[in-house]
Amino acid sequence: MNLLLDEITVAASRLAEAGVESPRTDAELIAAHVHGVARGALHTVPDAAFDPRYWDDVARRASREPLQHITGLAYFRYLELEVGPGVFVPRQETEVMTGWAIDALGEMDIAEPVVADLGTGSGAIALAIAQEVPGARVHAVEADPLARQWTERNIARCGEAAPHTAGRVMLHGGDFASALPGLSGAVDLVISNPPYIPAGAWVPPEVGEYDPATALWGGADGLDAIRVIERVARRLLRSDGVVAVEHGAPQGAAVYWVFAEENGWRGTLNHIDLAGRDRFVTARSGRSSVAG
Ligand SMILES: C[S@@+](CC[C@H](N)C(=O)[O-])C[C@H]1O[C@@H](n2cnc3c(N)ncnc32)[C@H](O)[C@@H]1O
Repeated sequence: MNLLLDEITVAASRLAEAGVESPRTDAELIAAHVHGVARGALHTVPDAAFDPRYWDDVARRASREPLQHITGLAYFRYLELEVGPGVFVPRQETEVMTGWAIDALGEMDIAEPVVADLGTGSGAIALAIAQEVPGARVHAVEADPLARQWTERNIARCGEAAPHTAGRVMLHGGDFASALPGLSGAVDLVISNPPYIPAGAWVPPEVGEYDPATALWGGADGLDAIRVIERVARRLLRSDGVVAVEHGAPQGAAVYWVFAEENGWRGTLNHIDLAGRDRFVTARSGRSSVAG
């Protein structure tokens, strides 16, 4: 054992006492961040190089500040994104829906598919699609000006890391309810991770105190924004275009019926996340085929 590994063990039990869900992982990731090494190289940090500022960051995490705000980074599929106060930290469950969308766009076999990401936040979904779907043109819509500063930063950052994505994510300010009027009937895929937590529901401190309120709350039943997304997707999509919308685990049945056949949707499907919980709904517009 070296000094840093001893300190990590103490930090992990302090984080566990504070109610942090993954205390050992967080203690190690903070140590890697503070000492500028990969997590797998923590054992190589000599005792003399131990940085006591480690304990400042451990205290921040013990006060339930999100790990990603402390390191300034969030990982989403193949992206490293900058995050902090004012923007929603992208979540693992959204990676699954994004993967579904990337596969659906691949199956369309269109040279330059047009995509709308409604409520883009950090730009996670939009940038992942631009990175993984050759030729995709992604219109990212965000109402919150503070969040848009992070989107802009990440568009620039990802453009440098993967030049083939540069210029393929277009950021639009404003409410997604009236978004992209010039693209009505011309979009191949609409995707959204909208606010969907029912008003008054309990959320952990990392969420309630640090994610922006506009990213979280979806009205009395949590479905206010999802109903708006349904109407907007109906307007934006071409016939046979597809929509994917994330929702909370208990909302699968309700969201299924938001994308009802009587509204012109076909092949509406519930999908699960990595933990096996209902997590997103997909549907196809128009009458010609069935979403899979
Ligand atoms: C749950 S966050 C998702 C962010 C990102 N797409 C992700 O998955 O990490 C929802 C985002 O939608 C934005 N938003 C909420 N209502 C909106 C509206 N009416 N118009 C545009 N953006 C909205 C919020 O500001 C927030 O950035």
